[in-house]
Amino acid sequence: MAEHLTVADGTKEEKYRALYPQLRALVGAETDLIANMANVAAAIRETFGFWWVGFYRVVGDELLLGPFQGPLACTRIARGRGVCGTAWAEARTLVVADVDKFPGHIACSALSRSEIVVPLRCGDEVTGVLDIDSAELSTFDEVDARWLERITALLAP
Ligand code: SME
Repeated sequence: MAEHLTVADGTKEEKYRALYPQLRALVGAETDLIANMANVAAAIRETFGFWWVGFYRVVGDELLLGPFQGPLACTRIARGRGVCGTAWAEARTLVVADVDKFPGHIACSALSRSEIVVPLRCGDEVTGVLDIDSAELSTFDEVDARWLERITALLAP
């Protein structure tokens, strides 16, 4: 995949299965993290049509907005705040079926209804997060968690 993404039809599992090797080839051909984050966000949004797909990087004691696709977003998030800051603090993937029921959820967009946040890791350290928002309830499950963890692992140095 140089400038072209082949978007598969079918189930979520089939779409991830088609997307993953394309991302592996793309990310493997480029060493710059920001460039890779930008294309990964674009590819995920193009494949699934999610409301917002993007990255936050750990910079100092905050998450700082990185490459994303979708509406404007919060620029800085403190550790432990919102879904993103909690996924960072707890160093684990969080699947939120209804963001209104997540204490402290940060509503960057009132249209966001469900969310998944996957930590980026370098060894034991969390270096950022992949955040995906959906405009529908209960969009994400274990299938997304498993594949998105594989995709974020491609971004490890
Ligand atoms: N909802 C997120 C904040 C980031 S935006 O949705 C892009 C949170 O609660 O961490």
